[in-house]
Amino acid sequence: MDIGAQYGPLRAEIDRAIASVLDSGRFILGPEVSALEAEVSARMEGRPSVGVANGTDALVIALNALDVGPGDEVITTPYTFFATAEAIARLGATPVFVDIREDDMCIDPDLIAARITPRTRAILPVHIFGHPADMAPIRAVAEAHGLPVVEDSAQAFGATADERPVGALGDLATFSFFPTKNLPGIGDGGMVVCRTEELADRVRRLRFHGSRDKVVFEEVGYNSRLDELQAAVIRIFLRHVDGWNDGRRAAAAAYAAAGLGEVMTLPAERDGARHIHHLYMARHADRASVMSALKERGIASAVYYGIPMHLQPVFAHLGYRAGDMPVAEACADTAVALPMHPHLTREQVASVVDAVRSADRVAAG
Ligand SMILES: Cc1ncc(COP(=O)(O)O)c(C=O)c1O
Repeated sequence: MDIGAQYGPLRAEIDRAIASVLDSGRFILGPEVSALEAEVSARMEGRPSVGVANGTDALVIALNALDVGPGDEVITTPYTFFATAEAIARLGATPVFVDIREDDMCIDPDLIAARITPRTRAILPVHIFGHPADMAPIRAVAEAHGLPVVEDSAQAFGATADERPVGALGDLATFSFFPTKNLPGIGDGGMVVCRTEELADRVRRLRFHGSRDKVVFEEVGYNSRLDELQAAVIRIFLRHVDGWNDGRRAAAAAYAAAGLGEVMTLPAERDGARHIHHLYMARHADRASVMSALKERGIASAVYYGIPMHLQPVFAHLGYRAGDMPVAEACADTAVALPMHPHLTREQVASVVDAVRSADRVAAG
């Protein structure tokens, strides 16, 4: 990531936005949050959007709005950031993990039906690394069983599937504006996008202590509000996110053009899907050698989700064993995030590919 390259040119505009919030004296849930909610809605086929404190709360509140609670099960992917599974468990429900597909690393729709039980309350796919999960078959199985779908879109603002935006493909969707996300803030922030006004109304109430007016409290909720400073800055970034996503896609294309696919398995893009490469996760059987060759040349790389959720100690009581989710486990063992940001140059791409080739030669003996 290169946050400086991303924010530098916008610094004066960001400073002005911050000063204007300070001058206004409104800091929580004011006009900037309302404007951001409206702007996000406009990109989500008009669906109402509700700003919350972070992407984890967005998930907890979205699931709570569906009345997920103790004794319930929610089907999700084991290959995700912990927050996805944590949100389910935080409500007292049980995450039920379903393996992923090797190409897009998202939940495998064909494996979902077999895990549905009378306790299943929702399906929670994740658009992992910025690639849209295969929502059409997920929605079909959900509809066949009368289940709602919540999209964890934390890593995928601006990704599309068959020209439709992720975030508008389920019943509820969540976003995170954590500073490293492809649509970032300068602190914590999140959003819940809702298919109906009724759901949005519930989410708004939940984010504010279960109250509409701070006088009457109708249920136990949360204090999970988006603040004006974040919203003002996220609004600036929102105007740039498509250009940044284009830059990420160009960087991904540059990796492919430079021949990285000859030595690593590159992230795939399903027909009709628009991957925004929040992270560029390529796979190699000898990942450690690739990472050390990169490190020798001063190039950063990182492992994400090296222990899939079904093997995390916190979920040991659920009884999963190594080998239960072979595809997720293989990705956890072989995938590595290579440098990826909107302004990655051809030279930087070439030096990454060079380093990987040198590791590959060593590995090949
Ligand atoms: C897939 C996924 N879900 C949820 C979250 C949680 O978002 P936040 O960090 O804003 O709470 C993140 C990111 O951190 C994420 O990557």
